[in-house]
Amino acid sequence: MDKIKVAILGAGTVGTGVYKLIERQKTEMPHKIGAELEVAKILVRNKNVARDGIDNSLLTDDFDEILNDDSIDIVVEVMGGIDVANDYIKRAIEKGKHIVTANKDLMASNGSELMDLAGKNGCDILFEAAVAGAIPIIRPLKQCLAGNYISEIMGIVNGTTNFILTKMTNEGMEFEDALKMAQELGYAEADPTSDIEGYDAGRKIAIMASIAFNTRVTFDDVYTEGITKITAKDIKYAKEMDSVIKLLGVAKNTKDGIEVKVHPMLIPSNHPLATVNDSFNAVFVHGDAVDDAMFMGRGAGELPTASAVMGDIIDIARNINYGCNGRIGCTCYKNIPIKNIDDCESKYFMRLQVEDRPGTLASVASVLGNTDVGIDRVIQKTKKNNTAELVVITDSVLEKNFKDALAIFKGMAMIKEISSIIRVY
Ligand code: NAP
Ligand code: HSE
Repeated sequence: MDKIKVAILGAGTVGTGVYKLIERQKTEMPHKIGAELEVAKILVRNKNVARDGIDNSLLTDDFDEILNDDSIDIVVEVMGGIDVANDYIKRAIEKGKHIVTANKDLMASNGSELMDLAGKNGCDILFEAAVAGAIPIIRPLKQCLAGNYISEIMGIVNGTTNFILTKMTNEGMEFEDALKMAQELGYAEADPTSDIEGYDAGRKIAIMASIAFNTRVTFDDVYTEGITKITAKDIKYAKEMDSVIKLLGVAKNTKDGIEVKVHPMLIPSNHPLATVNDSFNAVFVHGDAVDDAMFMGRGAGELPTASAVMGDIIDIARNINYGCNGRIGCTCYKNIPIKNIDDCESKYFMRLQVEDRPGTLASVASVLGNTDVGIDRVIQKTKKNNTAELVVITDSVLEKNFKDALAIFKGMAMIKEISSIIRVY
């Protein structure tokens, strides 16, 4: 083909970046893909609003104009949302169009169905930008590392929360102030719930776990805990333990099934993920052959995200020119059970406000012992107004045992408050 035509659904942050990159790379394309690459149409909600940096004559608010244009080969979905995006993608595939999407919400819930449909229609559906923005991770997992049994993926996959935690760690800011700053800088959404509650990271870890372990993991399978309860004091105590607190997505393929979760975690300052700061993302992978590998880069933003989308467009364009689309489809050919969070093990950091009188520590230790929660360390931090602050670090214990201990603590008058619970690496 001499010319490959692309339609972009959405002209927001990512859509604008994709348009700019296609324009910037125009003269390279005949060399890289053996054809020219042209943006034929851009779908928006209101085509009468002028868009900076975009040729406004390309705008349309009618998806059918794209669907019924047989000269359009590739549809790039960067609108966001689930229902409309899902409907447009399905209809485009049924018309034989190839898809690139950055939509993790959609791929974490409907990915299986969309990949099956694409496979049946001989179409590509690629979604590198859906996980960790610019960082190549989907393609490495599906291709470069395909000769491994991957046993673990762990990553910082949300830029907003990493920015907030970095500000709290390096500048002693409280959560609310750091969140406000992230919003002012445009990192966090106007409604940052899905970032700070861990849902965004949950969708990304579900997608990565599905590909890494060759079994379907959806967002509903992921245990999620966000960073809203982390205080400046937790960060200070973590520092004293030569650790930092990060929001991690963790997926493990164990002999009893798959563990998949998102939660804040204390990690030692010398762990490679501890040095990933601000809005950067990083993904740490362990495979039986590759051993440890880490991928790091920008997890969001106009051009970084467009970089990943552009890589997918180029891949599809090359497939079109060699007549080999649909080569790598869904790779979930196993059916591995997902473990309940209660059956997962972790070490815990627990901060308690207790009555400052003889016997309290013994009672706390006795409850932990009776619920089979081993203690690694106990530190009494402060004593004020008949209240002592205790920090307990447990051994690696079953979540259900730890919950049993907490339930007993909640009914004990001598325990005035359970101030924090954070998992420890
Ligand atoms: P955005 O700035 O809010 O832009 C969304 C665009 O889609 C807007 O141009 C909007 O049109 C258009 N749109 C939305 N719904 C539409 C509909 N029903 N019909 C027609 N047009 C519609 O979003 P974004 O930040 O670019 O994100 C896009 C996608 O990329 C999301 O799935 C997001 O999760 C993913 N992603 C984003 C980033 C990032 O850094 N932003 C990183 C990785 C992945 P109007 O302009 O007319 O409203
Ligand atoms: N809101 C996301 C983040 C970017 O903060 O990482 C889009 O995936």
